Amino acid sequence: MLLPGSDPAAIERAAEALAAGELVAFPTETVYGLGARADDDRAVAGIFALKGRPADHPLIVHVLDASEASHFAAAPFGGVAQRLAEAFWPGPLTLIVPRAAEVARAAAGGQSTIGLRSPSHPVARALLAAVRQRGVPGVAAPSANRFGRISPTRAQHVVDEFGDALLVLDGGECEVGIESSIIDCSGAVPALLRPGQIPRERIEAVAGVPLAERDSSSPRASGTLEAHYAPRAKLRLMPAPMLNTALQMLGDSPLRLAVYSRTVRLPQGCRLQRRAMPDDPGQAAHELFAALRELDAQGLDLIWVEEPPGESAWDGVRDRLARAAAA
Ligand code: TXA
Ligand code: MG
Repeated sequence: MLLPGSDPAAIERAAEALAAGELVAFPTETVYGLGARADDDRAVAGIFALKGRPADHPLIVHVLDASEASHFAAAPFGGVAQRLAEAFWPGPLTLIVPRAAEVARAAAGGQSTIGLRSPSHPVARALLAAVRQRGVPGVAAPSANRFGRISPTRAQHVVDEFGDALLVLDGGECEVGIESSIIDCSGAVPALLRPGQIPRERIEAVAGVPLAERDSSSPRASGTLEAHYAPRAKLRLMPAPMLNTALQMLGDSPLRLAVYSRTVRLPQGCRLQRRAMPDDPGQAAHELFAALRELDAQGLDLIWVEEPPGESAWDGVRDRLARAAAA
């Protein structure tokens, strides 16, 4: 059921449901989340069941601020985590820190660490404030999609995923459009587990050290699985010259094929569908998942996508497309 996120009565109703251990989907600036109170392992189990997600894949806990985050952390934020929280919260950045013992075990997927994020979307913040008034210290929420599929950036996407029985707060289109950057601050050196919309150099400037890459000892993260964010159609990612050549050679193909490209145009007389990818990386991220959903809704066999530029501002978009192509 869709409720307007701008309506205070809807926020109260959603907060009441969360406090009672029910699931509620809500907008954030990145993507929509499927929330449960983080301190209730039974409520959190409902998220894993509804998503079809393995129970050892940890969720992100959403909090109002760093002081609320400290409820879940083994120690007060210091060092790199503190600097990053001060610089980027509220916003599209998740911090992995050592977890306080006996707190939010199910949300953490049994890990000794926990992922924490303070979202900036006004509806998410109103909801977090309303649950805090009811004694709930944080809301665990993965992206509100079935496991392995495209993250939702509009309320209707969530309804399309889970049907009308789920309570969904409508907060319009998510501004960022791809999931948060995840920085693991639990080890000796901070590591980038998932690129988002904040360029790597900006994070490194605040951290004061270069970010390490994810390695095999990093905890499992479904957003970091090689194959994820998958449309039903087969997605192929190609550099511009290769895409041009492929289109020239295509001829009369029986395949239902669409092209999603920034610089590559269709050859003369080609009657394929082309969707233009924005030149601006922020705009491209904003519309990426909605574009993939719209293309996918047409029952295509194939989506040919032009590889985005190599600059770090495109890291998040490039990462999501590479995982969608690997599925
Ligand atoms: O932007 C976002 O991060 C969105 C919105 C709703 O906040 N959430 C999101 O959640 O993308 P999800 O569950 O789809 O992806 C969260 C990622 C997963 O890959 C998960 O494994 C990882 O964060 N994660 C969470 N806690 C972790 C931990 N303790 N250690 C390692 N990875 C963790
Ligand atoms: Mg996800």
